Amino acid sequence: MWSKSILFAATSSPTLKLMPVPVKVELTKGKFRLSDSFTMAVTGAANERLYKYSTRALRRLSNRTGLFFSQDFITKKTKSDNVDMVINFKRKGKVALNEDESYQLIITPEKIELYSETDIGAFRGVETFLQLLEADEHGYYFPAVKIEDRPRFPWRGLLIDACRHWMPVEVIKRNLDGMAAAKLNVMHWHLTEDQGFRVECKTFPKLHELGSDGFYYTQEQIKEIIKYADERGIRVMPEFDMPGHATSWFIGYPELASAPGPYEIECRWGIKDPTMNPAREETYEFLDKFLAEMSKLFPDDYFHIGGDENTGKQWDANPEIQAFMKANDIPDNHQLQAYFNKRILAILTKYGKKMVGWDEIFQPGLPASIVIQSWRGQKALIDAAKKGYQAILSNGYYIDMIHPTDMHYLNDPIPEDAPLTEKEKKFILGGEATMWAELVTPENVESRIWPRTAAIAERFWSPASIKDIDDMYRRLEVMSFRLEEFGLTHEKNYDMMLRRLTNGGDISALKTLVDVFEPIKVYSRHFQGKTFTSYSPYTRAVDAARPDAKVAREFRNLVDEYLVKKTKENAEKIKLWFWHWKQNHEDLMETIKGSPILKEIEPASENLATVSKIGLEAMDYIESGKTASTLWVSDKMAVLEAVKKPVAELELMIIPAVEKLVQAAGKQG
Ligand code: ACM
Repeated sequence: MWSKSILFAATSSPTLKLMPVPVKVELTKGKFRLSDSFTMAVTGAANERLYKYSTRALRRLSNRTGLFFSQDFITKKTKSDNVDMVINFKRKGKVALNEDESYQLIITPEKIELYSETDIGAFRGVETFLQLLEADEHGYYFPAVKIEDRPRFPWRGLLIDACRHWMPVEVIKRNLDGMAAAKLNVMHWHLTEDQGFRVECKTFPKLHELGSDGFYYTQEQIKEIIKYADERGIRVMPEFDMPGHATSWFIGYPELASAPGPYEIECRWGIKDPTMNPAREETYEFLDKFLAEMSKLFPDDYFHIGGDENTGKQWDANPEIQAFMKANDIPDNHQLQAYFNKRILAILTKYGKKMVGWDEIFQPGLPASIVIQSWRGQKALIDAAKKGYQAILSNGYYIDMIHPTDMHYLNDPIPEDAPLTEKEKKFILGGEATMWAELVTPENVESRIWPRTAAIAERFWSPASIKDIDDMYRRLEVMSFRLEEFGLTHEKNYDMMLRRLTNGGDISALKTLVDVFEPIKVYSRHFQGKTFTSYSPYTRAVDAARPDAKVAREFRNLVDEYLVKKTKENAEKIKLWFWHWKQNHEDLMETIKGSPILKEIEPASENLATVSKIGLEAMDYIESGKTASTLWVSDKMAVLEAVKKPVAELELMIIPAVEKLVQAAGKQG
């Protein structure tokens, strides 16, 4: 049943529906049939994490198949003789950088065996195993296969910003489940910002009490989440952003700031001036006590201090700081921040932590023990590696920018042409997708994270040669619905949000429209006339619309295919869409009448109808073999150009395809 198309050009291994693609997959003969009698066991030393992981796997299989397995749990008492699946691991892994995550999975028609050095490797292997589930008319089965697998990069992360918008514990947990399914292994938890201090601090309780709107993680909740992550082989690295992005610290402790205050919680977005005072010893005394507490709370070896986007304006305006710089021969604000970083580094080192920061911290004079997170470009990453600093890449993985999946997917932490020696390449630890939360709430955050982050996760895990876009999208679709088994809301909240927009009415016309629109890219939403704050509604059509709109993408592909080979079948499909979209306008106008919140998308609906009419005219030319006049082509191209203008922060994603049809209509005969 494996057609040639799923054999991948860049590798000799079939990719099946696996994401990330393993290093080596060999299909062997036959199928392992799944039945109610299916049983699993774990051999070796007692390992609670693995018993729990494999028990959850059993439940997931049961839920997918409706099979009533007789086995309830996998425990240390479960005997491994005569079971169908045996997990063999050698030792408990450390949830730490560079731990062994490799595994080997062997499925024959009779038996399933998973081998790994660590239980964490077994977790990764169990996810691959679950992705292999197939069905035919006889029931569920696993193809016989031999898989050998290990990650390309040891640091594969997702940043979750819980500050701009609060992210409840359940949101964090289900995203940790999604991360484990995608074989990601670092949750970078952005915990303090101008807009909120989200951690309970016992030493300085005014930090969370006055620095948040009441939404912060208690230390018990943090421990619970760290344990949850640990049970999935995921590190939790906290980020306490300093010296900038720190307004929320100053409400309770204004003496930490470089200007007198008073301060209040920032509810607007953007780069703000409040910054810590690096010239006062008391700042370091405070941070020493604070970091002592937080170093204990967060067991990971790595600790992120932010360091980004410090404007320095408060430093320029403070005579005491200016005098300090003069007295200490500190020539500029960059050097002053480097001084601050060195002081923080000394504190973190004392508490056994390795310091991580955004690329701004990459300054002369800091020791090579720090890790640079490159967000402003690949350059800092390459420069860091050349100088022997460890580095991780986030530039190109900013999922809040709403770029299409393939763009992130092809962004490689070590591009083929990277000017690095093999030794220098070793300093690049991997990368992180970043989910900044200005424009998302718990309701739609997952529609920005998933499924695109699974493709990024593949970039971090799979061999660099795995980069076939069509094959990625084919597998991503399967991955996306499977991720829903953790309660992730990236699919199901779409309809829910549309339902609210129609005030409980029929959503079909609205969905037809929103399906082909995407939120505008990068940070342009902030410059369309509305001022967004913490308290704005994030419930409009643009908030429901998804990145990389699938209907639009598939339509573009359909048109591309048609223009290469003009089959009748594809022509009919294309026209059917155009008729549907043209007709949709009338239906949607009915919906909008009862939903003032949708009034703003009326021009978007008109645009879709206009574009569809042009598309149908172009198809007439193409199908009849007549050549459209130059004037017609230029007229229509001008209209298409005009409707590219965003409406309600949305952009219509089928325009490039219609432009191609119009151009083709003018090039007949
Ligand atoms: C950042 O995006 N300011 C790290």
